[in-house]
Amino acid sequence: MKISVIGTGYVGLVTGVCLSEIGHFVTCIDIDEKKVNMMKQGISPIYEPGLEDLMKKNIKDGRLNFSSDHKSSFVNSDVIYIAVGTPQKMSGAADLSYIEEAAKSIAYHITSDTVVVTKSTVPVGTNDYIKDIIINNLSNDVKVSIVSNPEFLREGSAVNDTFNGDRIVIGTDNKYVADFMEDIYKNLNIPVFKTDIRSAEMIKYASNAFLATKISFINEIANICEKVGADIEDIAIGMGQDKRIGKDFLKAGIGYGGSCFPKDTNALVQIAGNNEHNFELLKSVIKVNNNQQKTLVNRLVNRFAELKGKRIAILGIAFKPNTDDIREAASIVIINELAKLGADIIAYDPIAIENAKKILPKEISYASSVNDALSDADAALILTEWEEIKEINLLKLSNTMKEPILFDGRNCFSLEEVRVSNVEYHSIGRPS
Ligand code: UGA
Repeated sequence: MKISVIGTGYVGLVTGVCLSEIGHFVTCIDIDEKKVNMMKQGISPIYEPGLEDLMKKNIKDGRLNFSSDHKSSFVNSDVIYIAVGTPQKMSGAADLSYIEEAAKSIAYHITSDTVVVTKSTVPVGTNDYIKDIIINNLSNDVKVSIVSNPEFLREGSAVNDTFNGDRIVIGTDNKYVADFMEDIYKNLNIPVFKTDIRSAEMIKYASNAFLATKISFINEIANICEKVGADIEDIAIGMGQDKRIGKDFLKAGIGYGGSCFPKDTNALVQIAGNNEHNFELLKSVIKVNNNQQKTLVNRLVNRFAELKGKRIAILGIAFKPNTDDIREAASIVIINELAKLGADIIAYDPIAIENAKKILPKEISYASSVNDALSDADAALILTEWEEIKEINLLKLSNTMKEPILFDGRNCFSLEEVRVSNVEYHSIGRPS
């Protein structure tokens, strides 16, 4: 199949590269020519384990190409994927301007019957809107079918998720197009669920909102555990053994971040509101998350009478491991609050420092290693559970830090390990 993918952000690029890996001829399109030239050489603009190897392999095999020209890419494309960003507007709603641009470009340039597939996360009803834009702006007499095909990839494991996903959702009102789409993915061996367009759009929001709900729920249970002396790690195991609940997304911590959950939960609250439904539950999930992101700051304030001038090591800035993405990361909230309180902050992350420098206050300094960050620190905060952070030797901490005081926002250490060290250890939802 000949496929064009508009947008080479995280979703578009991973989708395009993986489609080429399963045998399709794919052109990934981006307006940024510099980025296109970089990708043509097999260099990925995003950090995603395994992606560059696949890019290089499929470019070499002649199945993967990059372009900044819509018109020439669309010629002879059987399918065009829209994978542009839908950033959050001030109101919380999704900004659809990139989608509108993509739809118009498709309408102007296609010269044969085409299936248009939306990968971007869009509010319910948007695919009908995309169809209207395309039909109203068509330059040639061709037929267009619209498909909603949401993605369920996680950053940091997106390639693996593509090849081992739980399901592929195909939303279309046309049975033949549904079968045609199923055929695109036949080499993946993943169950396909076919539904109508609006339901497919909603499945994406409902899935992200449900996962966010699980996280806020477990974080609230963790907060109660701290009061009653129970251990959230054991609670999560004991709950997760019930198949109806499931063991995933029950890891208590400092709240969810990233480019998806915060944006999509806000957008779903908006979608509900626009349809005269007050989504109380999801509003609470968001509120709980906002509070949870500040929990370590509150504990630090309670622990030290004065934070001014205290050297605080921040270990991990990315919103989760294996990514350099810091969008909506709890670390941003925490570092900004601590900076306001006058703490002397030294932050470390294996790969997210360059992104952090762009948005964090100028006075933050950055370390080149975990040890460098911990050196002479009055306290350390673990904000991302990177492997190298989980491997810190607690027994050696008192030689490195001024005081071995550790606030672990990701429960990286077992309480047994902590007991045999001399570290003052504060974690989430566990007895101290
Ligand atoms: C999320 C979904 O998991 C994907 O299915 C979806 O495709 C994607 O959004 C999207 O809409 O594009 P992602 O944001 O990449 O993926 O990362 P997750 O692994 O879901 O983590 C999100 C946040 O939740 C992170 O800050 C993570 O630390 C936090 N989290 C996750 C927890 O605090 N506890 C958990 O048990 C799991």
